[in-house]
Amino acid sequence: MEEPRPPVGLDTSKAHVARVYDYWLGGKDNFEADRAYGDALEARVPSIRLTCRMNRQFLGRAVSFLTADAGIRQFLDIGTGLPTADNTHQVAQRIAPAARVVYTDNDPLVLVHARALLTSSPEGRTAYIDADVRDPGAILEAKELTETLDLTEPVAVMLIAVLHLVTDDAVAYPAISTIFDAMPSGSYLVISHATGDFWPQEQVDAANATNQAHNVDFRFRTRSEVARFLTGLDLVDPGIVPVAEWRAGPDSVVPPSAESNIWAAVAKKP
Ligand SMILES: C[S@@+](CC[C@H](N)C(=O)[O-])C[C@H]1O[C@@H](n2cnc3c(N)ncnc32)[C@H](O)[C@@H]1O
Repeated sequence: MEEPRPPVGLDTSKAHVARVYDYWLGGKDNFEADRAYGDALEARVPSIRLTCRMNRQFLGRAVSFLTADAGIRQFLDIGTGLPTADNTHQVAQRIAPAARVVYTDNDPLVLVHARALLTSSPEGRTAYIDADVRDPGAILEAKELTETLDLTEPVAVMLIAVLHLVTDDAVAYPAISTIFDAMPSGSYLVISHATGDFWPQEQVDAANATNQAHNVDFRFRTRSEVARFLTGLDLVDPGIVPVAEWRAGPDSVVPPSAESNIWAAVAKKP
């Protein structure tokens, strides 16, 4: 495959999760170090590409539910990833053209491609913040957020497949609390998070060793550790479940939990 020329200043010597995820999803915005890590982890976790697709499908089902059934019109999508099919604003605006979406990611390549996320319907709006979820103030105070979202109205805060990259509990839990405390009653928190709960310990250890060998900060969390992010919120049916099982449609293929190895949940602020 011909290597795309990296944008000036981009570090392509080390795997970046946004680009690895793009690789697993069949995209073209990835480099040799991303593919080397992607292949090494796939050797340990052969279902990884299926897992990524199921995670994207969860994003679509959650945004559809929030827009069509819960009446949400504002989204803060943190850890957006590289643009792909059915990004949050496209799913939401198909149902409610006036929906507003603020995207946030800390990866320089996502910033380069952010224009593809700023393709709002004329009635709605999209904005992009180049920020780190570990610095909640930078997100909450960004003019892209304050000028796009009305924080007196409910917001769905989306943290899809990003929190397992925030490995330090002492940072992760307070950061999410700070962000969600700024949202009004009736807001939703949407989480998907990798877990080793369904695997034998050897597989968890092998995946962790591969992540360390490629300098990828990554942390599996258990179901109760994921639940801690949702403390005080009302879980939407069916609760915290393997990602493929969250409101699966009649035609959804739901593989064994070990092949989704991601917990997913949507919860509402009372
Ligand atoms: C696995 S991708 C998930 C993309 C998308 N949310 C999805 O589920 O399809 C994780 C994304 O989180 C971003 N990310 C990782 N750590 C982050 C941080 N500390 N702050 C903001 N974004 C982060 C990565 O750059 C990447 O784009």
